[in-house]
Amino acid sequence: MIEATAGELMHRHIVVGLSGGVACYKTAEFVRELVKAGAGVQVVMTDAACQFVTPLTMQALSGRAVFASQWDVRQPNAMAHIELSRAADAIVVAPASADFIAQLAQGRGGELLALLCLARPAERVPLLVAPAMNREMWAHPATQRNVAQIRADGVTVLGPAAGDQACGEVGDGRMLEPDELRDELVACLQPKHLAGRRVLITAGPTFEAIDPVRGITNRSSGKMGFAIARAAAEAGADVTLVAGPVHLATPRGVARIDVQSAEQMLAAVLPLAPAHDVFVATAAVADWRPAHRAGQKIKKDGSGAVPTLAFVENPDILASVAHLPQAERPWCVGFAAETHDVVRHAREKRIRKGVPLVVANHGPSTFGRDDNALVLVDADGERELPHGSKLALARALVAEIAARLPRPRGGAA
Ligand code: C5P
Repeated sequence: MIEATAGELMHRHIVVGLSGGVACYKTAEFVRELVKAGAGVQVVMTDAACQFVTPLTMQALSGRAVFASQWDVRQPNAMAHIELSRAADAIVVAPASADFIAQLAQGRGGELLALLCLARPAERVPLLVAPAMNREMWAHPATQRNVAQIRADGVTVLGPAAGDQACGEVGDGRMLEPDELRDELVACLQPKHLAGRRVLITAGPTFEAIDPVRGITNRSSGKMGFAIARAAAEAGADVTLVAGPVHLATPRGVARIDVQSAEQMLAAVLPLAPAHDVFVATAAVADWRPAHRAGQKIKKDGSGAVPTLAFVENPDILASVAHLPQAERPWCVGFAAETHDVVRHAREKRIRKGVPLVVANHGPSTFGRDDNALVLVDADGERELPHGSKLALARALVAEIAARLPRPRGGAA
């Protein structure tokens, strides 16, 4: 799991709406997550939601009095639905019941929460809804019709997930977990620098087998590459991630292909590259592999004799993509993890590999960690992205890539 950045919702004001459903108990945790991430949270509840958790609980967690009635006169102009929706950076309705989704689809405003969703300025206040209901209710044609309608109206539908349900049945309709909802909201609020672009990323180490039980690999954790995959997806790109052996969850919305060796990584990447606009090679690909892979485990024979390993050089995946014919070549970004003279090596590597951008970092001080510092080296010189979390750096790098990217191939002039 790539950790979220502390304070990533700082100065954001989020309206969290609850409609009726057992999943309201998860929304209590979701509100805590938002507050921990620095957001100001205004909770709005329907009458039905108040049957499941109390406004008192939600007030304690959000630090603000809850709104539950459209006749609430606490706003100076007595127009809670207008004031609350104007002040929000986003509105998240979790849980969204089948009935609430039907109200949204029909544009009804019988209760404060539905009313403020209707009254929100849609072009600047995104509305996200997290359905939670029994699987039959979710599958019902009326619900599916309503969900299609609200999507068409610009609402972002989060989930639902499949699994055990409070009613004892198993299927689609579970509300996403609080941390997933937080991540979806954070993603929704990121600038869409790479909308409509396709990004291919390699990440992690490779594993070069010696025999069926042994091999050589390196200390890359894959965290930087996975963070870039997540940041690119948040920025609106279609992302394919080719990953060596790592223990990391796939970022939401990212298509992942798992490989072991450098040769497998190359075989996965090469046919995909021409369909992508950007290729980011973060993988720490083994430079060499054993020349022969023993079919059976190499055994000690008791004599003290040690095996001799011969190596051959692995293909250079980045250079192979960078040397595709121009019409098939994505815009290439290389990484340089060095132990000394980081920038000088990165400059040389950029020329040697024939890529427009190399991202340099100090290998030993970043392997396996959640933080890093980067130097971007391109034809115009160097630019430092100062020390920060890998996710924050990945978001900054995505913005830098987007700023340097040529217009889409075949796109309008
Ligand atoms: O040559 P070196 O390993 O230092 O270059 C690092 C950059 O090249 C990284 O972007 C890495 O992902 C990529 N690379 C590759 N295939 C290799 C070796 C490195 O794609 N065989």
